[in-house]
Amino acid sequence: MTLGIDGIAKSFGATPVLHDVTLQLGDGEFLAVVGPSGCGKSTLLRIVAGLEPADRGTVRIDGVPVDHLPPKARDVAMVFQSYALYPHMSVAQNIALPLAMRDLGRVQRLPGWSWISPRTRARRHAIVGQVREAAAMLELEPLLDRRPGQLSGGQRQRVALARALVRRPRLFLLDEPLSNLDAALRAQTRNEIALLQRRLGVTTVYVTHDQVEAMTMASRIAVMFAGRVEQVGTPADIYERPASVAVAEFIGTPRINLLTARVEGDRLFVAGRPRPIAAAGIAAADLLLGVRPEALLLADPADTRALPARVSHVEYLGSEGLVHLHTDAAPAGAVARVEAARAAVLRPDQAIGLHFAPTGMHLFGAGGRRIAARFPATGDGVLAAVS
Ligand SMILES: Nc1ncnc2c1ncn2[C@@H]1O[C@H](COP(=O)(O)OP(=O)(O)OP(=O)(O)O)[C@@H](O)[C@H]1O
Ligand SMILES: [Mg+2]
Repeated sequence: MTLGIDGIAKSFGATPVLHDVTLQLGDGEFLAVVGPSGCGKSTLLRIVAGLEPADRGTVRIDGVPVDHLPPKARDVAMVFQSYALYPHMSVAQNIALPLAMRDLGRVQRLPGWSWISPRTRARRHAIVGQVREAAAMLELEPLLDRRPGQLSGGQRQRVALARALVRRPRLFLLDEPLSNLDAALRAQTRNEIALLQRRLGVTTVYVTHDQVEAMTMASRIAVMFAGRVEQVGTPADIYERPASVAVAEFIGTPRINLLTARVEGDRLFVAGRPRPIAAAGIAAADLLLGVRPEALLLADPADTRALPARVSHVEYLGSEGLVHLHTDAAPAGAVARVEAARAAVLRPDQAIGLHFAPTGMHLFGAGGRRIAARFPATGDGVLAAVS
């Protein structure tokens, strides 16, 4: 099914939390909503689920407004950060709960009641089958008789997911479901959720403040700041064409480098050093040049066309190296991602030159908005080896 979020606005008291949020999800799509803490992600999800009323705007499921419908009637499953399993129930009973609530009466849910009515028995039988199926999908079968207290954090989170998907909702809303897990388990569970979502084809909104989760799991990402959606696009769109400094800084690790720059005619100046630029009709100081760490290229310190810099420290990571640098144009410092072998021979305080690879350069103007520009290659040589 499709989900339409159209012009949603929300304030808590006098504090606006969401401003005119509009998003559209196609059938079976996996959209990640990413943004810093407090930007309104959970509030948006709660409005879609029907747990919170919006002040303005409309939520549509398959084109039909659902604003007046209570959460139950929206046929939406939500998984929260804290998975809230019932500690006195087994895994199987926890997973079965939404089905039991929907399909059985109060009395029929009691154990031992099934012999009374064949219909109740048949329903219970069906529930057991559905629980098995959900448990199989999440590899929980060996754990069905355990209680939540006897499970690891990752296993508990899988139980919460099984409980959410057992009734085959039309829409999945996941709010930071992995934030309680350690790094290794997060990476594993993130792949499991992505695979499961693809297999089930359930339209999914996945909220996270972890840009790596958003980049690796979703087909499209919405980046939110302070209650506004700043950019929506595929992970590659957002990484390669960030709409603003805020988006550029939020997406990508290590962070994009920001250098003060100005443009005169067809030349871009960084720390007084020119390089060619093709940007229609811009002549401005106070611009910011964003350069991705992998686009910061180390050069000979004697290269007068290169930006002078000094190594502050080197992180050797085995597969690559991160070189932290001081340079006048980057008040917050800069980081270059280089081959491990090159990082291994760099020393703190060593002087070095910097060139920029055109593909990782982004120019931002007033208000941090992206300026459309092309950066012709300069052909500047990059150091083959640093000794
Ligand atoms: N019930 C409420 N009453 C008043 N203010 C609220 C309420 N719920 C949320 N807020 C405020 O609204 C803003 C957005 O909160 P929200 O929980 O949506 O952020 P979030 O993006 O999910 O953050 P996090 O990543 O920390 O979970 C915050 O400033 C929060 O303090
Ligand atoms: Mg939240």
